[in-house]
Amino acid sequence: MRVKPLSPPFGAEIDDLDLARDLDDVTFAQIEQVFNERSVVLFRNQRITHARHVEFSRRFGELEIHVLREYVRPEHPEIYVLSNIIENGRPVGIKDAGNYWHTDLSYTQAPSRGSIMCAIEVPQKDGAPLGDTLFASTAAAYDALAPDMKAKLQGLQAIHRFWDRYIRERKAAGSDVLISEERRAGTPDVVHPIIRTHPHTGQKCIYVNEGFTVGIVGMPEDEGRGLLNELFAHCTKPEFVYRHQWRVGDLVMWDNCATLHRATVDYALPQRRLMQRTTLKGTAVF
Ligand code: OGA
Ligand code: MN
Repeated sequence: MRVKPLSPPFGAEIDDLDLARDLDDVTFAQIEQVFNERSVVLFRNQRITHARHVEFSRRFGELEIHVLREYVRPEHPEIYVLSNIIENGRPVGIKDAGNYWHTDLSYTQAPSRGSIMCAIEVPQKDGAPLGDTLFASTAAAYDALAPDMKAKLQGLQAIHRFWDRYIRERKAAGSDVLISEERRAGTPDVVHPIIRTHPHTGQKCIYVNEGFTVGIVGMPEDEGRGLLNELFAHCTKPEFVYRHQWRVGDLVMWDNCATLHRATVDYALPQRRLMQRTTLKGTAVF
């Protein structure tokens, strides 16, 4: 397998595999190792069916079905669709999602291990791609913390919440939002350690994100916010960031423990974007 780094601290491209073909167990184990060690893995020029996307994802374990059921593919509910395209008066996927630093499903008890995204349509301007995705290494960011900060964070826990952000973002994207109490109650606040241990590599990672982390347990609100803002700014310093410019046929998988990511909404119809993602189940944070 040919593996090339995407940026100095993390990310890798595997450029000699066709994921439409059956992968033997040895090849799969190598992919999984690169994924665990490099946190973001890119495969270009892939032409795979929805069924294959799900099948490849399932090699890593069980898959999530997104809480926003309105944006999953009916015939493959493991596939969550992100798009600005309207067909027959209906959005084909969620529009402008993730335009803030976050990590997928941090607002659940057992957040996602990783996500696997395929680019079906990529918006362009004058031949250059728009709608890049940025990734930040929370493992590199942890390593770079000063020793007294590491000591201060050890043992602290943060609160993660879904709906506030969702409602703000939907309003910003120009959609109506009416979420029933019952639906809100289905995704209550959760608490996770601020410093987590990667379940496969043992690396320590900073596990807070601008998207969903709203406070620190046992700390006054202002003080908690202040510390969180400091951590958000630290994690997303340019030296920890890789910016992915999408091409049609890219499959990118990212580690939701060791990275944060954010979308860039710098395009609008008639520039079309269509991405689809599967979400790997994870374990409780420790
Ligand atoms: C996601 C996500 C970013 C993007 O699918 O989880 O945040 O650029 N996507 O579409
Ligand atoms: Mn995301």
